[in-house]
Amino acid sequence: MLYRTLLCNAILISMDNTTAQKRIQELSQLIDNYNYEYYVNDTSIITDYEFDLLMAELMQLEKEYPEYALPSSPTKRVGGEVNKTFKQVKHKYPMLSLGNTYSIEEIVEFDNRVRKLLGDRPLSYTCELKYDGVAVGLSYEDGVLVQAVTRGNGAEGDDITDNIRTIRSIPLKLRGHYPAVFEVRGEVVFPWKDFDDFNEYRANNGEEPFANPRNAASGSLKLQDSKEVAKRKLDFCFYSLMGEDLPSTTHYGRLTEAKDWGFKIEKDLVKECCSIDEIQDYIAYWDKHRSELPYAIDGIVIKVNEVELWDELGMTAKSPRWAIAYKFKAERVATRLVSVNFQVGRTGIVTPVANLEPVWLGGTTVRRATLNNADFIEKMDIRINDIVFVEKGGEIIPKIVGVDVDNRPVDALPFTYIAHCPVCGSALVRNEGEAGYYCPNEDGCPTQLIGKLEHFVSRKAMNIDTIGSERLAMLFEKGLVKTVADLYDLKREQLIGLESVSENKKRTSIQEKGADNIIAALELSKQVPFERVLYALGIRFVGEVGAKKLVRYFKNIDTLAQANIMELAMVEDVGEKTAISIFDFFNNTKHLELVVRLKKAGLQFKVQETKVSNVLEGLSFVVSGVFSKFSREQLKQHIEQHGGKVLSSVSSKTSYIVAGDKMGPEKLKKAEKLNVKVIDEDTYLEMCKDDSL
Ligand code: IVH
Repeated sequence: MLYRTLLCNAILISMDNTTAQKRIQELSQLIDNYNYEYYVNDTSIITDYEFDLLMAELMQLEKEYPEYALPSSPTKRVGGEVNKTFKQVKHKYPMLSLGNTYSIEEIVEFDNRVRKLLGDRPLSYTCELKYDGVAVGLSYEDGVLVQAVTRGNGAEGDDITDNIRTIRSIPLKLRGHYPAVFEVRGEVVFPWKDFDDFNEYRANNGEEPFANPRNAASGSLKLQDSKEVAKRKLDFCFYSLMGEDLPSTTHYGRLTEAKDWGFKIEKDLVKECCSIDEIQDYIAYWDKHRSELPYAIDGIVIKVNEVELWDELGMTAKSPRWAIAYKFKAERVATRLVSVNFQVGRTGIVTPVANLEPVWLGGTTVRRATLNNADFIEKMDIRINDIVFVEKGGEIIPKIVGVDVDNRPVDALPFTYIAHCPVCGSALVRNEGEAGYYCPNEDGCPTQLIGKLEHFVSRKAMNIDTIGSERLAMLFEKGLVKTVADLYDLKREQLIGLESVSENKKRTSIQEKGADNIIAALELSKQVPFERVLYALGIRFVGEVGAKKLVRYFKNIDTLAQANIMELAMVEDVGEKTAISIFDFFNNTKHLELVVRLKKAGLQFKVQETKVSNVLEGLSFVVSGVFSKFSREQLKQHIEQHGGKVLSSVSSKTSYIVAGDKMGPEKLKKAEKLNVKVIDEDTYLEMCKDDSL
């Protein structure tokens, strides 16, 4: 057999350049074929050992002769490239979403609408699975994968090419007769089996398991080290082709063609349908059999099959008229409520968590579910030993949605909600209008203190990844760190030799190198921009987006700390509840002292101005709608970079409204009433031209 001869050649005696180049090409092609057979056609032609030998030989040759390594080499699948940040890339074709429904009646209406718009024209549909993963677009040029971009905001996304290359079922190099330039769209999924193995591995290493395969796939694609991505066995389900010069006049035909270029498509899973009955049968079949699939789906997508009709049918506000998604209703199961635990979060909020008799639901065993808050328990009259209904929709944590009151067991026990914090014993309090209780001991309750520290170092906040949960708990227990400011007082010598214990009872101690890494990461965190520092402070109700908006508005911590509730509520998306929470935070001397210490340590507490010009000086703008050249956030930033001010609502003081598609009708009405000029983004860009430059 061919591979045996090739294996014989594998003995690496020194080669001349031409032989090396030839061998690299040969091996790349061969490994590519085996990959294709295994991951796309599901057939194994050689053993893992033989495959590994070929791969090792290719890697060795590429190391010795890097100039001959092919851009589409299968060694790229092992990963290795590290991306500090992902480049933002504009989609050539916007990545749209689908209109969706849970009812067959609405599918009938969809069909009626399509037929009415197209008159008597003959048409058919394709029915396919709605994969529950992460949408990505893959660009191919001359048969080579050149770029992979996430959906992002639909107009632009992250360039995750290095991570995508590690997915074995994605061809890096195409076969057959493919168009010169085109894009493939699909979903990256984490198959159930691999997801379960991966979660088990995480749990054994003391890491939090992922709640569902979609989150795990999304988290994996955001990893900066593609080697790590390569270890997770992600898969790709493709569902459409985009391009100028595509073969076939039907969607089904295109999917079939793409199979010949090396894309994995299980044709049996896609069906051409000519009637509503056929569509209905397809839906009913998959609603019943979806748990037999190796990956999660959350519905069925129905598309007009004749591609030339797509343009004619056009779009509604945000989705095409030629397709619709039928979403399966969340799966629901009944099980017994065994007991209730109470968890305390970093802001002191107490969450009741149900311990359930284990039950199989949506591909995983569910043992726990949220009970939301005291109000919810009271309203539902949930009792221990009750049979409860559990649902797992798109959301991360399964929830209890009802009680089987008619079949209540005689031993069902009503339970009283706790009155004291299960961690520190403080009497719980409940603010007026709030559904939940919280522990007010924010400066003494260990769970809250550690929770605040964990939040502070987390990736989206200060991203101090050398201090994980175990180390934080240890530093806290040893009395070295109680507040986030204490982190910056840590000395290398204090850290060396400290021992922490992981969840699976493994003991590790900090060595010299580890201590250096911690100090270096803390030092580096001093460059983290103000908006993330503000988010890291963990003010109740201030999330990532809110922090960004507050920072853009107030520019520095002093102005923010001095703002009153009215001023705070002026900021877009900051409601009264959040404004009060921010106000309270900065009216607490302990928090002010904390900020002073962090400032002294050198953290960023003001925005880095990136002024481009002053052409918009003295002008104020309200931004509304969807834009083609900017995201809304970018447009606001652009205004400020040119000296303008961004307001959240229209008033007589507003100079202009920059209006995009689908501008809010309320804003438009108000603008007309107050005589405020409405301009589009091109007019706005004209205004920004600075003649003095
Ligand atoms: S077609 C114009 N087909 O569902 C929209 N989408 O809201 C083209 N999805 O984010 C999408 N399976 O990523 C299409 N078979 C399938 C799909 C599918 C999953 C995702 C897609 C999009 C969302 C639609």
